[in-house]
This record gives sequence, structure tokens and C-alpha cells, in this order.
Amino acid sequence: MSNFKRSIIITGGAGFIGSHVVRLFVNQYPDYHIINLDKLTYAGNLANLKDIEERPNYTFVKADICDFEKVMSLMQEYHVDGIIHLAAESHVDRSIKDPFTFAQTNVMGTLSLLQAAKLYWESLPEGYEGKRFYHISTDEVYGALEMTHPEGIESPFTTKASSEHHHAYGEEFFVETNPYNPHSPYSAAKASSDHFVRAFHDTYGMPTIVTNCSNNYGPYQFPEKLIPLFINNIRHRKPLPVYGKGENVRDWLYVVDHARAIDTIFHRGKVAETYNIGGFNEWKNIDIIKVLIRTVDRLLGRAEDEDMNLITYVTDRAGHDLRYAIDSSKLQRELGWEPSLQFEEGIEKTVKWYLDNQAWMDNVTSGDYQNYYDDMYKNR
Ligand code: NAD
Ligand code: DAU
Repeated sequence: MSNFKRSIIITGGAGFIGSHVVRLFVNQYPDYHIINLDKLTYAGNLANLKDIEERPNYTFVKADICDFEKVMSLMQEYHVDGIIHLAAESHVDRSIKDPFTFAQTNVMGTLSLLQAAKLYWESLPEGYEGKRFYHISTDEVYGALEMTHPEGIESPFTTKASSEHHHAYGEEFFVETNPYNPHSPYSAAKASSDHFVRAFHDTYGMPTIVTNCSNNYGPYQFPEKLIPLFINNIRHRKPLPVYGKGENVRDWLYVVDHARAIDTIFHRGKVAETYNIGGFNEWKNIDIIKVLIRTVDRLLGRAEDEDMNLITYVTDRAGHDLRYAIDSSKLQRELGWEPSLQFEEGIEKTVKWYLDNQAWMDNVTSGDYQNYYDDMYKNR
């Protein structure tokens, strides 16, 4: 047996959100053993974790969550008592082109983890006591909301994150009891995985928790997603492909605030519960894009609005959900979490980070990041 107080597998820890969760747990809990289980698909980048990779309480394992035997052997080898599951195919546009991979990873991969956790934990004398299977999901499973107020109305939520930009584009919000109504192959696969997780609680008594979060932004996001893609394009004066009219609304949360929420919920959330996590921070895409152009231009010393002409309206995404807006007041009320950053602050930090870390971006866009594992780990 090891000397660690807890042994936790974090899946997808080399990805965008996962790397922030791994960093937070490794730093905050030196008495926990954090095992980062990641297949290193195109979205996995070990350079995201350079600053913590030598820590004694951190282990990286390159593996596929769909590989049941491997997951089972890791559970046994490391006496795992907690799983925080983030590994997934996460990009909606890719799911439209290749739905099979999304079903395989997001549904079958989640099932493989659940079954391994079940068999291992049920084999122990204490069974499920002290164990936790925490599944990270998305607000996209709820479907899309109406935009009844395209001009924006006062938001019912006042939090640190929303006090400056506090409007909403409709009266309805996603709450934890909303029925599921996914529209993309990505969200359909995530919805299915959420159902499996809850079924393992209801059928076998596994101590599960599910959280559904809104759009994250911040450092280390793969530049296929709106914010990093557009920051990089503005820097290099490349066209900005805005889907449709740019009127779609998303609720944005700084990624470190999501990681903080995951820490809170992993430790204090109630088993079998669902918690929504969001930024109380709705923005139309086109408005965010203008903020990005102004911020990049200002930080690079370019003339104001010089790059507005990069905005290029293109064919809309198929099945493009109009509005997401999440009510995360249950989490705020019951566990005292709220976002720590206002969007204006968060976006300034984020743009600065991408501009200051051009080497990270170049490493990703050139494909060189995929050699990191061979260079650093293969011969260990
Ligand atoms: P990401 O695409 O940046 O990272 C996914 C990670 O999972 C990568 O490191 C990849 O290598 C790994 N992975 C993929 N398939 C795997 C497999 N079969 N086995 C092991 N590892 C595998 O994703 P992200 O944006 O960080 O999202 C993480 C999780 O959070 C996902 O479950 C996603 O659905 C959810 N989520 C994301 C957002 C968002 O805005 N990005 C919002 C809400 C919820
Ligand atoms: O809501 C949570 C979800 O947020 C997560 O579950 C997903 O994993 C994550 O990818 C994200 O999904 P979105 O589809 O909302 O994120 P994306 O960055 O791809 O797009 C944000 C919005 O910007 C969306 O309305 C589509 C639009 N868009 C996106 C890209 C990449 C454009 O207009 N042009 C683009 O080039």
C-alpha cells in the first residue's frame, strides 16, 4: 500500500480542462496520488502539464478509457478510490463529420470506466464506502434555449462574474431537472454517457456525481475552439469564420473556475446529485469576437478596430444550437461556489496568455506537440 491518503484517476488530464484539474489537485493535495489517464488523441498535449510533471504525487499513464482490462489493472495497481472523468471527444464540428468516434469514446469509454470501477470497488471489503465516480458533462445535453430577447434583458443572477455584463437573452435557463434534448452527435453521446453514470448509481449503488458545465475559456485550449482559434487568427491577420450570423449565445466560464468547482463538488457534493456549473455570463458570438479583436489589437499596439475586417460570415454549423444559458444557483446555494473572475478580466488574462505563449501555440499548430510523449516518457 502507498502512503497517499487518496488515489484518484483523472481521465483526459492532458486536454484543456483536464490539465487545469490535474494541476489544481496535484498542487492542492500533495497527499493524494493523481493518476492522469489519457490516450493522447490530437486533443491531448502533455506540454500543458510541464510545470507539474515531475511532482512525486503525479503519474501519467497513456491509455484508452475504452481498454477495460487496462483500466481494471490500473484500479488494482493504484488502489484507486476516486475517478474524475473528463476524457471525451469534445468538438461539435468533428462530431458532425465522425459520429462513430464520439459514440465509442464518450459512451463505450465511460461504460468501460464504470464497469472497471464497479468490479474493483465491489471486490473490496468496504465496497463503495469512501469511493466516488465523478462524471464531467456539458450543458449541451439539455438542447437549446429560445432567444426571446435578442437585445438582452436584465439577468436574474448577480454574481461576481456577472455584475458588469449582466444581461440575458431569454427568460429560460437550463436547470438540473431539465429533460435531455441533445442535437449534435457530440451532445447525444455525452447525454448517453450521463444516463449510464446515473444508471450505475440506481442499479448498483455506485457513488456517482454528474455535473453539466457551460463553455469554458482560458489557457491551453486546443485552437479549434472559438476563442483560441480566433485569437491566433487575429494575431496572424487570418479570416475569422463566423458561423451563420454570429447571433448564437453561449455562457462562458473561466476554466480555472470550472476546476475549482470540480474540486468543491468532488469533496463536498452529494452522491447521486447533478450540479450545473456556469458563468452567469451570456454572450452573442459576434460580441465576443469584437471583444477579442479589440483586446488583441490593443495588446499588440495596433490601431483600434484595425482588424474588424477579418470577420467573415460563413455557412452555419449544421444543427447549430441557438442559445445556452445555465442556472448554477444550486451549486452556489448548496456548496458556496461562484466564479471568481468577471469575463472582462478573464478574457484579458486569456488573450495575454495566448500572445505570451506563442511557442505553445506554434507547437500545437505545427503538430510537434505530438512528439512530447516519446521525448519525455517512452524510455522511463
Ligand atoms: P479536450 O478535447 O481538450 O480534451 C480531451 C482529452 O481527453 C484529451 O487529452 C484526449 O487525449 C483525451 N481522450 C480522448 N479520448 C480518449 C480516450 N479514448 N481515452 C483516454 N483519453 C482520451 O476536452 P475539454 O474541452 O478539456 O473537455 C473535457 C471534458 O469536459 C469533456 O468531457 C467535455 O465533454 C466536458 N466539457 C467541456 C466543456 C468546454 O467548454 N470545453 C464544457 C463543458 C463540459
Ligand atoms: O457548452 C459547452 C460546450 O462548449 C462543450 O461541451 C464543448 O465540448 C465545447 O467545445 C463547447 O462547444 P461549442 O460548440 O459551444 O464551442 P465552440 O468553441 O466550437 O463554438 C462556440 C460558438 O462559436 C458556437 O456557437 C459556434 C461558433 N463558432 C465556432 C467556431 C470554432 C464560430 O462561429 N466559428 C468557429 O470557427
